[in-house]
Amino acid sequence: MKADLNERITRIGPGTPCGNLMRQYWQPVALLDEFDPVLDPRMATRPVKPVRLLGQDMVLFRDESGRFALLDRDCPHRGADLSFGRYEGDGVRCPFHGWKFDATGQCIETPGEPTGSKLCTHVKQRHYPLVLHSGILFGWFGPEGSEPPPFPSLDCFVAPNTHTFAFKGLWRCNWLQAFEVGIDPAHTSFLHRFFKDESLDDTYGKQFRAASVGDIGGERWPMTKIMREFHQPKITVDPAPFGMRLTTLREMTGDISHVRVTHAIFPHTFVIPLSETMTITQMHVPVDDVNTYWVSIFTSFDKPVDKKTMRDQRTRFISLPHYIPNVGRHNNWGYDPEEQATRTYLGMGEDDINSHDQWACESMGPIQDRTREHLGTSDVAIMTNRRNLMKAIDAVEKGEKPLGLAQADIAAQRFGPDTVDGIAPAADWQAWWQGRAAEKREAAPWPAVIPAAQ
Ligand code: FES
Ligand SMILES: [Fe+2]
Repeated sequence: MKADLNERITRIGPGTPCGNLMRQYWQPVALLDEFDPVLDPRMATRPVKPVRLLGQDMVLFRDESGRFALLDRDCPHRGADLSFGRYEGDGVRCPFHGWKFDATGQCIETPGEPTGSKLCTHVKQRHYPLVLHSGILFGWFGPEGSEPPPFPSLDCFVAPNTHTFAFKGLWRCNWLQAFEVGIDPAHTSFLHRFFKDESLDDTYGKQFRAASVGDIGGERWPMTKIMREFHQPKITVDPAPFGMRLTTLREMTGDISHVRVTHAIFPHTFVIPLSETMTITQMHVPVDDVNTYWVSIFTSFDKPVDKKTMRDQRTRFISLPHYIPNVGRHNNWGYDPEEQATRTYLGMGEDDINSHDQWACESMGPIQDRTREHLGTSDVAIMTNRRNLMKAIDAVEKGEKPLGLAQADIAAQRFGPDTVDGIAPAADWQAWWQGRAAEKREAAPWPAVIPAAQ
């Protein structure tokens, strides 16, 4: 790849081609949990947070009526930082000269101006539309005055709050290399390889520790065993209304194949199975060109999600309130050569595979130099996605709507998507996985069944 193309598909600041594309889609801004005083005691008295997203600095607050507000952070008087503002319940007041703003960005007081001044009526800070879905506040950053697209009806947003759990973490690298880890089905056989499998009795909430659906001669196989023993997957990419479907086949014997179906939802989200009954929908939200929050929604198709267990599992490795991983470049991501020699392929811990992915994308450097890479057959999804990305950037430049969820007219197709990880009859794997996916939907206690009309 040429250096200028690499710049074009990675940089997302205001006014950049890819930045203009990203601003067509609803973007996660914060977790509702970030305003929970139990998790962050500061929120009890001052529910105000600085937010940086797409290279823009903003202030997010909840007013006394419960309404959330997201405003540009530079005070429209002389530019001081509103995230240090005085919280007054019905708005924030800039500490420099006391100008006060409500949740719509309207200036409602300029106390240093002469009595009777009408100045504040003419001053309005830009504010961004926000919607709350599955414990996440989403914002829209498209051109001022234009309409945001409808919110997608994906499973993770249709499921009730009891059946979803949202969490996030900061990776110090560009958003695209973070996303490209998730659409690379070959890496799981290497990066996440464990030399021994854990018991299948204690896998709740853990990625790649559950069993694959199905059995071999009555024996259940942990995903880790399949990934380890069958490391030359055949990957197929099919276009979907919202991006692409990835099918990864691992031939096990002449009669059976392991099939894993996952999805890329354009521009930066993947949907993968966590277990037989849970999926992970993970977005890769650019903070700026060199920092990215992954934001995940875990969706259960059977019992309510045990949020406390899920959170406790993750806060062992990621520190609140800023959701910063405990490992990173500063401590070599916890690398242990002895572990690498004896227990895992990577040597960065057995309990949190998320940190493996973190190493993969952070160790490339802040923005991967794609002029130096050599892609292979197993990188087919990465190549397809880059072509989609280039096309979408071009489309936005021409004033057209880009691929996927930014298009209002594909609303009826914005459901699901189905995922599976299982052991299938080799001759009939397609019907097999579709059958399993349909069974999972029918058994779900919330309306996960696709209406027949669609
Ligand atoms: S800079 Fe904010 S009130 Fe003056
Ligand atoms: Fe991974």
